[in-house]
Amino acid sequence: MVIPANQPIGIFDSGIGGLTVAKAIADQLPQEQLIYFGDTAHLPYGDKSTQAICQYSTRISNFLLDKGCKAIIIACNTASSFAYHHLQEQFASKVPIINVIDPVIDHVAGGPAEQCVGVIGTKGTIGSDIYARKLREKSPSLDIRSLATALLAPMIEEGFVDDEISDTVIRKYLSDARLTGIQSLILACTHYPIIKSQIEKYYQGKVTVFEAASIVASAVHRQLQSLDLLNEALSEMHRFYVSDYTEFFEKTTKVFFRQSIHLEHYPIWDN
Ligand code: DGL
Repeated sequence: MVIPANQPIGIFDSGIGGLTVAKAIADQLPQEQLIYFGDTAHLPYGDKSTQAICQYSTRISNFLLDKGCKAIIIACNTASSFAYHHLQEQFASKVPIINVIDPVIDHVAGGPAEQCVGVIGTKGTIGSDIYARKLREKSPSLDIRSLATALLAPMIEEGFVDDEISDTVIRKYLSDARLTGIQSLILACTHYPIIKSQIEKYYQGKVTVFEAASIVASAVHRQLQSLDLLNEALSEMHRFYVSDYTEFFEKTTKVFFRQSIHLEHYPIWDN
């Protein structure tokens, strides 16, 4: 690893979902500068091919490395499912690559061994079966029920949150027979913490809802510490880039970071 500790942390997702992870990292590691890339031009990632996701993730990682990032956080479950090993092969000799799935697997597998666990995510993530496979490897007696909830990420990205439409869509998915009897639910998409309170309201406290953001932020903290890559003091503002400008992205970023952020449109796919 050649990149100094005072360099920024690079984070990417297809859109606003990864901001949930970025915010948790900023809260836990306030001395770190973040560079965020939302690939809004290709949103949603959930129905793209492995090849396309690997191609997007490689290009974005190169952009983050050009910005001097000392670590890359794949703040997207779909890209973590399909492109993590691909990115590791290319970049792990230069910077640590951290996905959002393994920290959650370790967290849930460290809990009660007999429980019935639901997993909801994009078609890509659920189709890859990565959560069920990894959870069974670590904790074979878990009963795992997975369900693709394809409409949720685009719904959130369109701003349908905390309203009647999103309540109806969430209820429709969560009442699916495949999730009957679950005791905990993994939100296997980084967009879903934005609707976590609506999901919790549906279950009325009877189901524990796990989301990646704070779990991943702790994993990032541990990994940077073990590599002696923690910064000492924040010297530059966070930077936010999108491949296609959307007003909702700018609004959400301001809500998350409570600061007047400047959203930069970087047409990465035109170059
Ligand atoms: N936030 C992403 C995830 O965690 C992607 C959602 C999408 O673009 O389909 O999978």
